Amino acid sequence: MAVSDISHRPRFLAKGNVYLPHIAVIEKIIDETYDTSTFHFNFKDEKLREEFTFESGQFALVSILGIGEAPFCICSSPTRIDHLECSIRQVGRLTRALHRLGVGAEIGFRGPYGNCFPLDFLQGKNLVFVGGGIGLSPLRSLIWNVVDNRDRYGNIDIIYGARSPADLCFNYDLEAWDKDKTVNMVTTVDKGDESWTGREGFVPQVLEQVAPSASNAVAIVCGPPIMIRFTFPVLEKLGFTPEQMITTLEKRMKCGIGKCGRCNIGNIYVCRDGPVFSYAQIMSFISSEY
Ligand code: FES
Repeated sequence: MAVSDISHRPRFLAKGNVYLPHIAVIEKIIDETYDTSTFHFNFKDEKLREEFTFESGQFALVSILGIGEAPFCICSSPTRIDHLECSIRQVGRLTRALHRLGVGAEIGFRGPYGNCFPLDFLQGKNLVFVGGGIGLSPLRSLIWNVVDNRDRYGNIDIIYGARSPADLCFNYDLEAWDKDKTVNMVTTVDKGDESWTGREGFVPQVLEQVAPSASNAVAIVCGPPIMIRFTFPVLEKLGFTPEQMITTLEKRMKCGIGKCGRCNIGNIYVCRDGPVFSYAQIMSFISSEY
C-alpha cells in the first residue's frame, strides 16, 4: 500500500445508530498541564465494554447532556483496552464543564469515527514521531501501539516539544519512552525555566539537529498548525517525500460522519476523509487553510 492511499477506511466503525452516544463513566483524571487533563473512562454497559474496538488515530464525540459535544482523539492504544483515554484542554463551555467533572461522573461517548494510522504501511519501517503540546495525544496512541508490537517496526525516534516545561503533556509516557532502550526520545521546550536542564529549541529546529534518516522511514507529525507548517519543510530537507509524511488534522466538527459540512478544509472533510492524511494528500492547501 502506498502511503498516499491512507484514506482507507478503518476496520472498526461505530455500530448501530452512529449518532447515539453511549454512557461512559470517568474512572481516573490525570492533570497534564494547568488547562489539560487526561480522562480515563469505561462504558457503563458491560457488553459494549467488551465489544468496543477502535484503531490508533480515530476520534470520538464526547458529550455532557444539556451542554454539548465535541470531537477528541482516543489517545489510549488499542493494545491496552481495559479502559479508554481522551486528553481534553479547556477551551470552551463543554471542555470547562468536562473539567468540572470528577471520578464517577457520566459522559456521553459516540464513535469511533474517522480513518486511522496505516499500520500495514508502517510495518518494517523506521518511524519518526514529531509532536508538539497536546498534539502528542493521537501520536501517543500509535506510539504505544508500536512499542507494544516492537518487533514489527524499525528504529523509533520521538521528537516532542512544548512551549515551556509546564506545557509538556504525558510526562509519565515521556519518562517511559526515555527509559526504553529501543526508542530515541528527544524532549525539548521553546524556553526552559530555572529548573529545566533539558534541551531548548523549537520542534522543527530540533528535528533538523536530530536529523533522522529518511531511508525506509515514515514521519508522523501532530501539533499546533504552526509547528506542522514548519516541520514539513524540514522533513523535505532531510529527504522525506510527501508520501513519507503523515499527519492528523483537527477541525471543528458536528456530525463526525461527513453529513454537516462543518469540518471541510480545501476539498476534504476531516471527519470523513481523515483525520489521518499523508502530506501528499494535503500539501496543496495546508499552508493557506490550516
Ligand atoms: S463534522 Fe460533519 S461533515 Fe465533518
